[in-house]
Amino acid sequence: MPTQKTHTMAIRYPFVYNVGRCIHNGLSVALGAYRRSTALILSGKELSLLVNEHTSKLCRAFEERFSRKPCLAVVLVGDNPASKTYVKGKKKACDEIGIAHIDFTYDESLSQKSLLELVQSLNDDPNVDGILVQLPLPSHIDEVKVINSIDPAKDVDGFHPVNIGKLLLGQKSHIACTPKGILRMLDHYGILTDSKDVCILGRSNIVGKPMAALLMQKDRNATVTICHSLTPDIVPYVKRADILISAVGHTNVVTSDMVKDGAVVIDVGMNRVPDPSKKSGYALRGDVDFANVEPKTSAITPVPGGVGPMTIAMLMENTVVAACDQKGIDTADLEVLE
Ligand code: GUN
Repeated sequence: MPTQKTHTMAIRYPFVYNVGRCIHNGLSVALGAYRRSTALILSGKELSLLVNEHTSKLCRAFEERFSRKPCLAVVLVGDNPASKTYVKGKKKACDEIGIAHIDFTYDESLSQKSLLELVQSLNDDPNVDGILVQLPLPSHIDEVKVINSIDPAKDVDGFHPVNIGKLLLGQKSHIACTPKGILRMLDHYGILTDSKDVCILGRSNIVGKPMAALLMQKDRNATVTICHSLTPDIVPYVKRADILISAVGHTNVVTSDMVKDGAVVIDVGMNRVPDPSKKSGYALRGDVDFANVEPKTSAITPVPGGVGPMTIAMLMENTVVAACDQKGIDTADLEVLE
């Protein structure tokens, strides 16, 4: 049966190369206790530079054609420190790539009614192409109501039920940025998912669920297991995984005894641990005990510098795609001068 290509939102890159031959575990097993690390480090930091370069060219071509930049509305409510950091990173990426951003920053006390009115005004504004409402929202605001109020065409996070539903059905949609970034990284490094056992730790709407939906499609052909906080024992599921994706949000959830030799490990965790040697007072750690797990793997993402930069790169790409969609063109219709 021919493989069916869905999710063609992804821009196909000429620089995708196949390093599948690098994915091996023989040496590390053979050397036993003295094994040296042979894992391929999947650098989201490096790949995001390539993706952003291409997105930037698309932005310049868009501006030439429509006399304005693609535009993202960035909404932040409250003072969650992690959210503030993420939003800062997203705005910086917009500036570097050539995406205009309009910023809406409110304190905790913003009412749900005011936020819904803001979203409605952004939906109605033809000069706004994408809307990002940073989550989590303060507890008095119903997140579902807010997400559902965003025009699916401007939902560059891919969180709206229309986009999630289309994704599940294998139809073209805005795809949530973290899962999309993980797939882009696997593709870039030549890691195939066909017939693989993939274990996802975490069932969030942002990562776990869309990740599972993408991997089960006919263009990915993985056998997917999702473990969550009420899975009695995650170990047997993790142990059999060819590809492990951890999106739990706690350090050292994944230890070396749990990981199959030669597995590919994707660490979505962005956990802050106190570190007085840093100016910020904290260091970023993933969910995975990197130092001990890495030698067992064939490929692994670092934290920082792995999934995080890819999430932002995909947000930028989704914004340009949304801008083009709303102008009735495909990104391929933009004349990009190499
Ligand atoms: N909070 C954590 N990750 C995300 C994300 O990708 N998008 C939004 N809007 N909020 C988040």
